[in-house]
Amino acid sequence: MRVALYGAGQLTTNVAGILARRPDVDVLGPYGRDRRDEALRSGADVVVIATTSFLADVAPDIRQAVEAGSNVITSAEEAAFPWAVDEALARQLDELARARGVTILGGGINPGFAFDALVVTAMGPAADVSSLRVERIVDCSGFGTAILQRIGFGFTAEEFEAGVKTGAITGHIGFPQSMNVVAGALGLKLDRVDRKITPIFAEREYRVPALTVEAGRTAGFEQHYMGVVDGSPWFEALFTAHLDPVSIGKPPRDEIWIEGTPDLHYAIVPGFNAQSGSSALVANSVRRVAEAPPGWLTVADLPPASPR
Ligand SMILES: NC(=O)c1ccc[n+]([C@@H]2O[C@H](COP(=O)([O-])OP(=O)(O)OC[C@H]3O[C@@H](n4cnc5c(N)ncnc54)[C@H](OP(=O)(O)O)[C@@H]3O)[C@@H](O)[C@H]2O)c1
Repeated sequence: MRVALYGAGQLTTNVAGILARRPDVDVLGPYGRDRRDEALRSGADVVVIATTSFLADVAPDIRQAVEAGSNVITSAEEAAFPWAVDEALARQLDELARARGVTILGGGINPGFAFDALVVTAMGPAADVSSLRVERIVDCSGFGTAILQRIGFGFTAEEFEAGVKTGAITGHIGFPQSMNVVAGALGLKLDRVDRKITPIFAEREYRVPALTVEAGRTAGFEQHYMGVVDGSPWFEALFTAHLDPVSIGKPPRDEIWIEGTPDLHYAIVPGFNAQSGSSALVANSVRRVAEAPPGWLTVADLPPASPR
């Protein structure tokens, strides 16, 4: 199987390392911006696009790879459920993929696993489910500078507030996508998703490879999302991102609470590592995407990712 990697960043570098150890996979790339065509026109069995978080940015790249006959996996968070962002664009690309007989998947660990695929699997032992709560605490000390700044690290209170208002600071992206994937798996429809982001200010200096944050600036943030179904709170998502979560008394972990018959509680301690977890999930999705039926699918449409 030939797998081409577009975007010469952390994710594709790690995915290349994992796939290079698999004798049945030929890895092409990772290719940076200056070698875009080599990746997207390669005609590889699967093209992995790991550049930005936004559907509008990756859509032309997805289109080109699909037109060249490749299946596509993109780590762009908005692509995990593109219909929630731009229904017409998602429909166009879905139709194109069906016409070309290839599959498109948006996925990684979050979205792609922690708040969706894993939650769907975790509901298996429940006869019925009335509501969900998922909490994730992530150590972001290994993230790159561009992503840290875009999601909200290193700002004063005023800068953070203004950045959130203009959209320059996004927090982590993808919770509405995960909620839509889980709702779809249960045959439910979300009325709306309410959201809130709260900065966490450094009480001392934090130094990580990509950023130094002085006391008083943001060393993290908390996001709270609530998905509402039939007028009632249905899916609560809590996400804490910090450069050293242990220092604020919040060691990394992933937890799922399912209210239903019976109630269920899962705890993953320490939580999934954002970088190694995403890379493994993308590498472990290559085969399931190559073997999937055509169209734009979500992780709930596919068998579990596995290191085959
Ligand atoms: N779903 C998930 O769980 C998950 C997991 C990991 C990552 N992600 C997302 O996937 C993306 C890549 O992650 P990463 O950790 O690899 O980031 P990264 O280390 O910052 O690498 C991104 C790479 O893409 C390039 N790039 C950025 N914008 C581009 C554009 N518009 N066109 C072409 N190339 C572009 C960058 O090039 P320059 O250096 O030239 O800008 C860089 O080489 C991020 O948006 C991240 O949020 C999602």
